[in-house]
Amino acid sequence: MATTSRFPGFYKISVDERRALIGNATGADPHDIARALEAGGLDAETADKFVENVLGTYGLPYGVALNVRVNGRDYVVPMVVEEPSVVAAASNAAKMIREGGGFIAESDPPLMVAQVQLVGVGDRRAAAERLLAAKNELLAIADAAVPGLVERGGGARELEVRSLGDDDEGMLVVHVLVDCRDAMGANLVNGVAERVAPRLAEIAGGRVGLRILSNLCDRRCVRVHCYVPASVLATDDMNGSAVIDGIVNASRFAELDPYRAATHNKGIMNGVDAVTIATGNDWRAVEAGAHAFAARSGRYAPLATWRRAPNDVLAGRIELPMSLGTVGGTLRVHPAARLSLRLLGVGNAQELATIAASVGLASNLAAVRALATDGIQRGHMALHARSVAVAAGAVGDEVERVATMIVEARDITLDAAREALTVTRVPRSDREVSRFERLVDVDGE
Ligand code: MEV
Repeated sequence: MATTSRFPGFYKISVDERRALIGNATGADPHDIARALEAGGLDAETADKFVENVLGTYGLPYGVALNVRVNGRDYVVPMVVEEPSVVAAASNAAKMIREGGGFIAESDPPLMVAQVQLVGVGDRRAAAERLLAAKNELLAIADAAVPGLVERGGGARELEVRSLGDDDEGMLVVHVLVDCRDAMGANLVNGVAERVAPRLAEIAGGRVGLRILSNLCDRRCVRVHCYVPASVLATDDMNGSAVIDGIVNASRFAELDPYRAATHNKGIMNGVDAVTIATGNDWRAVEAGAHAFAARSGRYAPLATWRRAPNDVLAGRIELPMSLGTVGGTLRVHPAARLSLRLLGVGNAQELATIAASVGLASNLAAVRALATDGIQRGHMALHARSVAVAAGAVGDEVERVATMIVEARDITLDAAREALTVTRVPRSDREVSRFERLVDVDGE
């Protein structure tokens, strides 16, 4: 938890100044922040211990989402993402949501599903009954596979048996629900599946097939909702109430059309994945779970929806499975992942899951608000213009000035940025008059 997540003008200050501010708010030493993020936080030697055939590492920007308040607590939320505007959009939307009291979140206990496939089972109904009758014995075998987890308060909790396909196939699938506590749980759950499988086959009278976790971890869901007053949604051209109508309309579109729902959910995952990656978690697992959950009714649906609430308020809600850990795996060895948890100050994996889902909801709000008002390109272009300004050599205040000029000129190119930079640096008397001077009065005259 941070003392605050509100930092007006944060984007305008230097990277070092940002580290100092975030250090101050989170209790992290700015030098530790700098060291943990040096060269992406991972050297080739360490990377060589992660995966095979290593040649080096691959860097991505590490930013922080601001203004995030979940269940009354402020968080500075690390996001690793290459797409411009994702961090800014999440921060802006979180600010709007904060005006309505912030995110209200709850998460299920961290239950993952170990799946064991049995094949060649004769009387499947009778086999299922025998398996369920042996539940206590089977859960004890499962627990024996994960003694450390049991010591930490986790372990096997429940057994379920499902019949798949027709009788000829003789296929039964047994689910062992495992409470993974603060681990993401893949290794633990796979270990459980492999340990219980032989006894399951013995009891059922069949052969063991696959033994693996399910990434559709629908027992480990997070639900977040929020309220946004119309006044903060208004744009230059639309009042807040009209923006609410537009956002509800965007939500209905996603609810009615899988083509739109896929893009709507992509916008949500912009935020969720960025937090997942920054905290050293398996984003492919989170993605797989989210999309399978979105399709659970048989029709692919949006993970977040929006409605008008009384008193000119927009109400939003998101629900998705979230298999995040705060211990184990990459987290032990990746300095940047450890830094992320330090900045967040989360107590456990469930708390982290509520934050990731909240950032997902904020990302969705930013996207649907932009789509329902100015369209997405305007904001994207404004941010893109800043990168172009930096590429042209602009530093400090120049970045904003050059970006504004090339946006106004509708010419967001490196050449235009170089010309605009000359305009800001060289006095008018020492150069030719530029086209930018007709568009923006850079000297404030
Ligand atoms: C772009 O990364 C994400 C959006 O397409 C999401 C959406 O359309 O809702 C803007």
